[in-house]
Amino acid sequence: MTKILVAYYSKTGNTEELAKAVAKGVKDAGGDATLKEVDEVHPEGLLAYDGIVIGSPVYFGGMAADVKKLIDESICVRRKLENKVGAAFVTSRHRTGGKETTLLSILEAMLVHGMVVIGDPIETGGHYGAAGADEQGKKEAYGLGKRIVKIAERLNIE
Ligand SMILES: Cc1cc2nc3c(=O)[nH]c(=O)nc-3n(C[C@H](O)[C@H](O)[C@H](O)COP(=O)(O)O)c2cc1C
Repeated sequence: MTKILVAYYSKTGNTEELAKAVAKGVKDAGGDATLKEVDEVHPEGLLAYDGIVIGSPVYFGGMAADVKKLIDESICVRRKLENKVGAAFVTSRHRTGGKETTLLSILEAMLVHGMVVIGDPIETGGHYGAAGADEQGKKEAYGLGKRIVKIAERLNIE
């Protein structure tokens, strides 16, 4: 079964809502979803997954420090996350508010790891990942969860 980690930080619950929607999408696509807050994730534990989806609230136009901490600590698995599939989701207070910059900063870190990052092809969607805690954002998050399973299954690169 394709194993997908959904790792997120959420102080007031908005990003957690999206995390749950991503996990539901993973399960509905036949994948094995693990939902964890970022502080529960040990960087070595990332090796166990075929795909990793990271979610953050937008803080001053970028990811929250707790999410960056996990990313910085993932230096210990440098060159070992290669070819895993990656994706991101975010929430912000304002309609724009820095969603795209935050999504891209997470995807950038994944690219540095040599991961295969996926965007959001939904016509009305967020382009770079799921964005926003509203119904549209949840729809995007669900779709992203389904999609990452399909891509990881197709890639299946050792
Ligand atoms: C320290 C801090 C910085 C924030 N910066 C932004 C920001 O730059 N743009 C924005 O639209 N919202 C900003 N917000 C609002 C949060 O991104 C928003 O409420 C988010 O949905 C919270 O997610 P959570 O409920 O998962 O914690 C900020 C909130 C905090 C606490």
